[in-house]
Amino acid sequence: MSTENQSIHEFDFSLICEYFSGIERQGPGSAEVTLKALGFIENLTAGSRIADIGCGTGGQTMVLAQHTPGVITGIDLFPGFIDLFNQNARNLNINDRVKGIVGSMDNLPFENEELDLIWSEGAIYNIGFKRGLSEWSRFLKKGGYIAVTEISWFTLKRPAEIERFWMDAYPEINTIPNKVDQMQKAGYTPVATFVLPENCWTDHFYGPQVAAQEVFLKKYPGNKTAGELIANQRHEAQLYSRYKEFYGYVFYIGKKQ
Ligand SMILES: C[S@@+](CC[C@H](N)C(=O)[O-])C[C@H]1O[C@@H](n2cnc3c(N)ncnc32)[C@H](O)[C@@H]1O
Repeated sequence: MSTENQSIHEFDFSLICEYFSGIERQGPGSAEVTLKALGFIENLTAGSRIADIGCGTGGQTMVLAQHTPGVITGIDLFPGFIDLFNQNARNLNINDRVKGIVGSMDNLPFENEELDLIWSEGAIYNIGFKRGLSEWSRFLKKGGYIAVTEISWFTLKRPAEIERFWMDAYPEINTIPNKVDQMQKAGYTPVATFVLPENCWTDHFYGPQVAAQEVFLKKYPGNKTAGELIANQRHEAQLYSRYKEFYGYVFYIGKKQ
């Protein structure tokens, strides 16, 4: 890659990062749903070690941290998100046990069987559900938990437009029973599975983006990357409102065998 291309690439990344830094969450979810999932996890103590993989700016991590003892490490690829994450932990005065670090989910800095809980909301798709479940397992103690959200089909058949969109964006999308089967085959006991309610997409994800998009487009008038980013986000939001009965995010919680 030429230096020129590289700098364009870096500019794109920093624009995407800036856009998503302006909103509380970088994916669908809510505090209520994080707490509901946490309700299925047993035996956490002040000595527990927890990782939040693909933590973003830490919307869900801060909720977790305020309702669990233990030490939490958030990991994300974007340094800008991690700066905000650590700022959020400082603001809540929990920075002694909640730390964000820059890193990649395909090269995690943990020891074998170090962790009691792996959390990952709206992020495992970056490595793929099956690969993530199987590669991250070695970092969990026996009996440790994994709790991830993943895009899933709700029905066996879907309209062609939405089928095409998701097969192009994430071919690993699958039905809930098939995802549970994958979790079982990766060596976890499936503990709970539930569909994230619609407000996780509307009130907590697409809704807050509406105002942020106006601000962003005014700040970068005529910028191709900014324009494409907003157009994509708007397209996704429209697809969601049209086809939400066919797909959504699902929490999958498992216990390492
Ligand atoms: C849809 S966002 C979800 C963020 C956050 N968990 C939430 O629910 O608000 C996906 C996150 O995964 C991060 N990410 C993408 N690829 C990654 C990788 N290889 N390793 C770690 N994080 C990654 C992105 O930077 C982004 O913060």
